[in-house]
Amino acid sequence: MKSMGKKVAVIRREHFNAAHRLYKKGWTDEQNASTFGKCSLPNYHGHNYELEVKVTGAIDEETGFVMDLKLLSDLVSMHVLEELDHKNLNMDVEAFRDLNPTAENIAVVIHDLLRPHIESSLDLFIRLYETPRNYVEYPA
Ligand code: NI
Repeated sequence: MKSMGKKVAVIRREHFNAAHRLYKKGWTDEQNASTFGKCSLPNYHGHNYELEVKVTGAIDEETGFVMDLKLLSDLVSMHVLEELDHKNLNMDVEAFRDLNPTAENIAVVIHDLLRPHIESSLDLFIRLYETPRNYVEYPA
């Protein structure tokens, strides 16, 4: 049973490492370098990504939970970290075969990996830090 009106957010923080290279196929190395800077260097490089998965919804009257954070943690491990952690995003992850692995696109991919596993009455938000100072949010 859901109580009416009290919308609360629960948030799980996770961490993963991954390598990537930002580039647009068909552009020269110079065009890519001027757009993507060091993130376009041909031999890839890594980032320490910090991930926040936020779920919002009504508090369940029986449990007092919006969502069991242990379950959320398990879902993130299974569907996101297994897929991305210690991977070369360009080479190892199907979702980035034809998609530039920018923080923006990674956040959307993470959202779409998790969405089918979260109750449809709950809203899902992703915040992804590529560096301590640069982060993206989806949906905005
Ligand atoms: Ni980079």
